[in-house]
Amino acid sequence: MHIPENIIEEVRSSTNIVDIIGEAISIKKRGRNYIGLCPFHSEKTPSFTVSEDKQIYHCFGCHSGGNVFSFLMNYEKISYLEAVQELASRLGITIEYDKGNFNKQNDNEVYYDINTEVGKYFSSNLLSGKEGEPARNYFDKRSIKLKTIREFGLGYAIPSKDALVNFLTDRKLNIEKALDLGLIGRYPSGDLHDKFAGRIIFPIFSTHGRVVAFAGRIMGNAENTAKYLNSPESDIYTKGKILYGLSFAKDEIRTKDNVIMVEGYMDLISLYQAGIKNVVAVSGTALTDDQALLISRYTKNVTLIFDADLAGQKASLRSIEILLKKNMDVKILSLPKDEDPDSFVTKFGKEAFEKKLLESKSFFEYQIQQYKIKGMDNDVNLQTDAIRDVVKHLSFISDNLKINLIIKALAKEFNLRESLLEDELAKQMLFYKQQPYVQFDKRTLKEKKEVEASLVKPPENKIDKEIFNIELELLRILYEGDSKIIEFIFRYITPEDFMPELYDLINLIYEEHLSGVKVEIRRLIEKIPDNNIKSILFSIVMDSYITSGHWEEKDLFVSPENRFEIYAKDTIKRHKIKLLEKQINEVHFELNNTDDEKRTMELLTSKVNLQNEVVKLQNELQTLFN
Ligand code: UTP
Ligand code: MN
Repeated sequence: MHIPENIIEEVRSSTNIVDIIGEAISIKKRGRNYIGLCPFHSEKTPSFTVSEDKQIYHCFGCHSGGNVFSFLMNYEKISYLEAVQELASRLGITIEYDKGNFNKQNDNEVYYDINTEVGKYFSSNLLSGKEGEPARNYFDKRSIKLKTIREFGLGYAIPSKDALVNFLTDRKLNIEKALDLGLIGRYPSGDLHDKFAGRIIFPIFSTHGRVVAFAGRIMGNAENTAKYLNSPESDIYTKGKILYGLSFAKDEIRTKDNVIMVEGYMDLISLYQAGIKNVVAVSGTALTDDQALLISRYTKNVTLIFDADLAGQKASLRSIEILLKKNMDVKILSLPKDEDPDSFVTKFGKEAFEKKLLESKSFFEYQIQQYKIKGMDNDVNLQTDAIRDVVKHLSFISDNLKINLIIKALAKEFNLRESLLEDELAKQMLFYKQQPYVQFDKRTLKEKKEVEASLVKPPENKIDKEIFNIELELLRILYEGDSKIIEFIFRYITPEDFMPELYDLINLIYEEHLSGVKVEIRRLIEKIPDNNIKSILFSIVMDSYITSGHWEEKDLFVSPENRFEIYAKDTIKRHKIKLLEKQINEVHFELNNTDDEKRTMELLTSKVNLQNEVVKLQNELQTLFN
């Protein structure tokens, strides 16, 4: 199938990109455009821009951009064809497909068609006839109601070696494509055979409710065969990009602004049947980046239900890491031993489960609590382990304010010194620094600087703001540099030259340096009373290697050994230039307000001198970075 160009044009011209994007993320009108937080990378200050005039969007942070179709494709992870179809159906435009223009989308439609037909076939096996009886009994025994069976399209593959093969042949469905989808197999002899025979069937739906794969469970206990058989990956199914149940749960997830993540298909179905519908299932493996991204578009709050066994906990820890990196708030719910969500809700009911949900703990609390149970209070080693472990996970979060809040809460709740956690964080960040390829935060340097600057009330006027930003840069260099660099910087610039906001901090570094001690951020942190300045320090500790990455990229013509030093020199010069420019502004101001001829001459002379100095310094700059 192929959608005729005029229909695509009709869809395009009847759609307003602002409405479509506005439904997905929150955007505000700013001048001619709309801006918001980019859904395609994590950021704190909006750089995602939607132009109503041009009907396009662009993110100045991650450079993604395009029209309404590309937005839907990227945002909902769907194909071009699906994006057009979705918009057309919202607009009530009927699509008349061109026949014969074969392409990739077309192939996928054939796959979807096969899965739809086969899904219906499995379902009718289950719901009618003598042959479906064992499966009906099985669901009955597990308290799954008919209504639920229908809602989830559950089915049954009758135990026969070629029932499905025959069905496909009778229906004239494409056998090769059914082989691609793993519904049937081919023996070396060439004979075809059913793959899911004898199993109860869970269709796996895409976020938009199309059947992309199947899972088949044996009835009874697994002994010499796997409990579940899953469709292999195919052109329409990538395991790591699908969350089971999302197509059913997405509205409820948005409404509740919370998602419960469980492991199994049966867990999800039982909870849903009980009326707890904001659930997705990860299906037995650790969560992938794509899955985390997918869910983060519906909510930032996730409650994980831990599997009691150790392997389960390990998988959960990996999932937690991935979720934290997406700036999700992670809560943990532990169920009583030997219960999973399915057995719990089936035995005790919805209210009991909801009561249990209220006991969920933030991941960090949960972690420390586990160490308490192990005896942390009377064991210094355990206490160290606990702090290290917690901080390791804190370091996955890219939102500094959030980190600070968590540190405060943990310190209070578990009677730990805040500085202990902060020290450890600084240390672990230094560790990251030695591994420049560990990129745990993809925000651009500019965004980070904006966050830093916003922690301290930034100076109002333009030139002061520029000076302030350069001073933050100098602070980074002081932090990153060895004693030689620090020595060098303080030869040209003293703490008094910095803006008052930063004076205390720079002065501390200066004094430490003069007294001959190695400048160590963790000691500084203890000495700084001001929380905002502390936050700046943290943020600098965390981002340091990104700064160096930045200047390294820019200044390709400078030999690597000298890059840092040259960069430091230039930054000092740029600082000086800005201070001179500020003076020139002041001279200007006075010039405009004086009538005294002698004074005017003086001012003009000093203006020329200042300008000459600026030009001289500008000529000396060796790096392009600005
Ligand atoms: P569980 O063993 O907890 O299965 O595995 P379950 O869904 O709770 O099923 P019941 O209650 O025994 O009927 C959790 C998930 O791990 C995946 C499946 O997605 C399952 O839902 N899994 C498990 C497999 O893919 N293959 C297996 O052999 C086992
Ligand atoms: Mn189970």
